[in-house]
Amino acid sequence: MLNGQTAAGLPRFSYVGARFGIWGLNVPFDSDERFTRAWARTVSEVRDHFAHRTPEVLETDWKAYVCCWAGRQALQVEGDFVECGVNLGVLSGTVADYLDFASLPRTFWLYDTFKGIPPEQMSPTEAAGLAGWHNKHNYTTDVYDLALQRFARFPNARLVRGRVPDTLAEQAPETVAFLNLDMNIAYPTVAAAEFFWPRLVRGTVILLDDDLSANHEQEMFAIQEFAAERDLLVFGLPTGQGLIIKPRWQRSMVGAGHETPQQHDKGCETAPPVARTAPTRLALHDALAAGRSAGRCASRVGRCGGGRGLRRS
Ligand SMILES: C[S@@+](CC[C@H](N)C(=O)[O-])C[C@H]1O[C@@H](n2cnc3c(N)ncnc32)[C@H](O)[C@@H]1O
Repeated sequence: MLNGQTAAGLPRFSYVGARFGIWGLNVPFDSDERFTRAWARTVSEVRDHFAHRTPEVLETDWKAYVCCWAGRQALQVEGDFVECGVNLGVLSGTVADYLDFASLPRTFWLYDTFKGIPPEQMSPTEAAGLAGWHNKHNYTTDVYDLALQRFARFPNARLVRGRVPDTLAEQAPETVAFLNLDMNIAYPTVAAAEFFWPRLVRGTVILLDDDLSANHEQEMFAIQEFAAERDLLVFGLPTGQGLIIKPRWQRSMVGAGHETPQQHDKGCETAPPVARTAPTRLALHDALAAGRSAGRCASRVGRCGGGRGLRRS
């Protein structure tokens, strides 16, 4: 964080974190001491690991705060917490600390191979791009034991080692109130979203950690398609995270015995299939990536698979 001043004495930046900064605005977590403590603890526990790999991870406090907010919201409803793509638990560990998770009658399900992205799940573009880079330079060691240490204070944290979505079929909670997806590639992200959607409590959110990140466009377009199939839009945050809210009630339920939210609350949890009205951009992306289109967009997408920006996640 920088706290410089302009010549007029106005604050120059009130916050600079990983990939974005703000000025002339207040920082929402500055006065949240519980968060400040949780984040400081996370940084002290993971600094050595990330300092020479991806140091910008140590500046993702705003992302962590968004997760803490979603976790805090989740406490208002029943359901377990889930993160797919855990690594050392920078985000989920901060959430667990922030909420004093050990004292809660819930389980934090933490899914990861703990040794990188399964290469067979990568598209050729992802393999040639940032996902391939991560496996080569970032996820170079098995971090399962380090992750176990990070969560040792939380007996109700459950690390599930293996490949998503395979592990989901083996063990998963029935009711989910917090879902953070952070696996760097499209296939398991969409598979996990599809798996957990019916189990996600209405009114809660899916957080998509990589949504707006450069070089993650395949994941972004795939998840936009997932949302479009449910007649929803992904909301991208300046942190780079995406947010999908599972509505308490959808217009498409009319006629299926759920004419009002109140009726829905009393009714079943399963929504009928919705008409697809939102446009899908996946096809457009494929066309652009294949070089069938020219111009600014095409060159932007063209960079996804390689070149500039590959060194940081
Ligand atoms: C960006 S890291 C997660 C960071 C983590 N959320 C944090 O806050 O520190 C991505 C993780 O996803 C895991 N991963 C990627 N694809 C996976 C899959 N199909 N199954 C399980 N883990 C996967 C990798 O092993 C890696 O640890």
